Amino acid sequence: MWPKYIVFDGMDGSGKGTQIDALKEELGDRVVFTREPGGTPFAEEIRKLVRDNPLAAKSTPLNNFLLFWAAREEVMHNLVMPALRAGKHVFSDRGDSSTLAFQIFGEENPDLSDLFLMLRQKFVFSAARDRREPDLYIIFDLPAEMARERVMNANRGELNHFDTRDLAYYERVRKGFQKFADYPYYPVKFIDATKTPERVHREIQMLLAGEMVIPEYAFVV
Ligand code: TYD
Repeated sequence: MWPKYIVFDGMDGSGKGTQIDALKEELGDRVVFTREPGGTPFAEEIRKLVRDNPLAAKSTPLNNFLLFWAAREEVMHNLVMPALRAGKHVFSDRGDSSTLAFQIFGEENPDLSDLFLMLRQKFVFSAARDRREPDLYIIFDLPAEMARERVMNANRGELNHFDTRDLAYYERVRKGFQKFADYPYYPVKFIDATKTPERVHREIQMLLAGEMVIPEYAFVV
């Protein structure tokens, strides 16, 4: 069996978290679950800086972009690659698709695109450095208004600096995920996140069966 590295991504409010929790319950130890930014003790420290510390919003776009890549480099080295080498599937809650969608499109920093590609191809996922790219990105897609509304309702009281953005920002982020899928050879499948959680779950199961990650999902009725 060839262990697979699968990224689950999409706008905040897309229901991704609920689906990942359901997979955790169903698959348990068969899969190593991780997240970005985070996943290892050091990457979790970077997460606190870039996601939770309000000072991050006052730093430069380049700095935030680099911190997400720093967390990714760490989790690839200390968690994802060791798990894949040990024959385990790895499912990650978010990945580099988020950096393109949020930092480059959402925050309108097209000048970071070249650096994005360079870090991705030459360093963090480079085969020359004994790394791999994700085998599949499952991206939860839904209209921007719906995503924003869900975030506002769900996070009342504890909004972080990513949550309080206007609708245009959500629209740019959505477009960013679509642009990520436009890169040739990036293995992206979109899921319609407006469907019921049960339907979405079934679609994920079918994708995972099709990729031969969890083949028996094909036989679930
Ligand atoms: P989190 O609360 O984990 O969001 P979610 O549950 O929706 O995944 O916070 C992660 C936040 O970090 C989320 O708002 C998206 C953002 N993010 C980026 O902006 N760039 C990135 O490269 C990554 C991985 C995440």
